[in-house]
Order: sequence, then structure tokens, then C-alpha cells
Amino acid sequence: MPERTPYIAANWKMHKTVAEAAEFVDALLPRIAATQSDVVLCAPFTALTAVVERRYGTAVKVAAQNMHEEDSGAFTGEVSAPMLVELDVEAVILGHSERRQYFNETDEALARKVAKALTADLEPILCVGESEEARDAGETEEVLERQLQADLSGIEPGQIENVVIAYEPIWAIGTGRTATPEQAEETCAFIRDVLRARGGAADRVRILYGGSVKPANAAELLSLPDIDGALVGGASLDAEDFAAIVEAAG
Ligand code: 13P
Repeated sequence: MPERTPYIAANWKMHKTVAEAAEFVDALLPRIAATQSDVVLCAPFTALTAVVERRYGTAVKVAAQNMHEEDSGAFTGEVSAPMLVELDVEAVILGHSERRQYFNETDEALARKVAKALTADLEPILCVGESEEARDAGETEEVLERQLQADLSGIEPGQIENVVIAYEPIWAIGTGRTATPEQAEETCAFIRDVLRARGGAADRVRILYGGSVKPANAAELLSLPDIDGALVGGASLDAEDFAAIVEAAG
């Protein structure tokens, strides 16, 4: 099985002004200087440039939290792939459950966004995850398979190794209720099986767990065979906490 470089991403959501983002990066960089992992900061659009400029010369990558699938057009309030690439942004979160839930993000649009991101040389961090009702009803695998098949339908099997998948059970986001290591591993392994069945190098795909990841639970989650990293919300807002999670990845 190929070695997969751990991938630790901070999703700041709608937090941090430019000044706060700059302060965070300055505090983080010396704390993670020795890491061998991919460290990715997913900043709000307004703070992207400040983060990009501060991380030049380091291994830290910068991601946006959303992107429109067209290059340009009459889409008030949206931002496109070429606009992100121009800023030296390297990745983009797509399909976060908050965007699906509050902004009507659809699987159809996500299929186009994933394809567009790859064409533009932006690494998509595609988020999938089930609701509490779906888990309770035993429908987790069905929901995830449907999301994966739909959201990846616009790309060739060979492109899958350039996609990062984040498994984020909705009931674990911002609730302090982390999936158990067994649930997280079992579900991430299922996701890899779905990718394998679609063809392409599923063993090379980084699959992240997200949902109440904290310094206290990171090491255990990250030690699991099919969990290659974390997408961290609340605990990524504090440089010391986030650095501790990066350190937990080894
Ligand atoms: P929390 O870590 O705050 O639960 O958020 C997870 C998340 O949504 C990351 O994208």
C-alpha cells in the first residue's frame, strides 16, 4: 500500500479578519516547522492573500472554502477558480455540509466544481457525511455512496488521486461529539472501497476525518489505517491547539 502523507487542514469557516489570520499564521509557523505532513489553512476569501504571503517559503498550503464552477459571469457574490489561482491558493473545500445545508449546494453543482477545480490545478477537498437521522436509520453507507458517485461524476477515474475526501458526519460537527474511532475508521474504509470500485488509485487518496477533532482525540483518530488526516473546525482557530493536532499526525 502506498504511503500517504498526512493531511491536516484548518477550516476557519466565517472566522478571522485579515489581522487575526496574520497573527495566527505568525504564531503557527514556528510551532510546526518540523512537520512532514501537508498543513492546509482554509481561510475566508478576504484573508487568503494575507495567509498566502506569510506562508511563502514554508510547506503550508492555502485553501478557499468554496468556489463557483464557472470561470466568470453574472454570479453576484461568487468567486471563481482563476481568481483563486491568481492569489496562489492551492486548494478549495467543496461541498461542506454547511454549504449544502444553508446555501443549497447541490451534488450536480459539486460535480462541476470538482471537475473545474482539477482543471484549474486546485486540489479539491470534497466533504461528504451523513446526518444523525441517516446514521440512526442505518443509511450512512447509502448516503455516502450517493454523494461520492454524484460529486465525482464529472472526473475521470485516473483523476481521483488528486482529490482529497473529508468524511464529516454532520452530527459530529461543532457538537463536541466525535465519531468513535471504530465509526470513523469503518466509514473511511467504506469510502475508500467506493473509490476503489470506481477505478483509479484509491490507495493514494487522502481521506480525512472531520467533526470535533481536538488535540485530545487527534492522535487516536490519525493512527487509524484509513484516516489520513483531519479537517478541523473549532480547534483550528487557536494556533496552539491546531499545532498540537499537526504534531499528533507525526
Ligand atoms: P468542528 O471541528 O468545529 O466540529 O468542525 C468540523 C468541520 O466542519 C470542519 O470542516
